Amino acid sequence: MTRALVVYESVFGDARQIALAIAEGLATRLPVDVVSAREAPAQVPADVRMLVVGGPNHAFGMPRPATREGAVRDHGARIPDTRSGLHEWLDRAQVPRALNAAAFDTRMDRPTLITKLDHAARTEEKLLRGLGADLAAPAEHFFVSGTKGPLVDGEEDRARRWGRALGELVAARPANAHG
Ligand SMILES: Cc1cc2nc3c(=O)[nH]c(=O)nc-3n(C[C@H](O)[C@H](O)[C@H](O)COP(=O)(O)O)c2cc1C
Repeated sequence: MTRALVVYESVFGDARQIALAIAEGLATRLPVDVVSAREAPAQVPADVRMLVVGGPNHAFGMPRPATREGAVRDHGARIPDTRSGLHEWLDRAQVPRALNAAAFDTRMDRPTLITKLDHAARTEEKLLRGLGADLAAPAEHFFVSGTKGPLVDGEEDRARRWGRALGELVAARPANAHG
């Protein structure tokens, strides 16, 4: 039985909530595991057909040690190890051949002119492609109403629907499909 894996980074819990909602949606089509990047296996198991990754935008990009330290210093975040997260996991992960993948990020609900600068999910996609994964769908962005959340109303439902759509997409693809 093939399955899906959702790997997330989350400082205040919002991206985690989105990851869990995506997993609920995916679970309508295939078994799913959800793990934080800190706990994710460096070698993605061979039976994983769909990998979804996501986390917050920090300083317009993926979190990195300096921005995590900023979250601790300026926003009272509790981060066990500011040196590791989703980017660092994607830098060293090994994935099965012909893996389907998709990326998401969370970002502040601000004018489009500003949110256009947020590129965490774009970097995640670049890292996924670098691993040899096939992007099954364009990245999705989910909105929070403040630095520490909460999610904007309806975003969890939207994440669930996106997860379901990804599950349907992967179920419809032949197991050895490329591109
Ligand atoms: C250090 C730091 C930098 C941030 N920079 C941005 C940013 O450039 N763009 C943005 O939309 N949100 C920014 N935010 C807000 C995050 O988007 C928000 O904290 C995150 O989406 C919440 O997800 P989480 O609860 O999973 O951490 C920043 C937050 C922190 C702590």
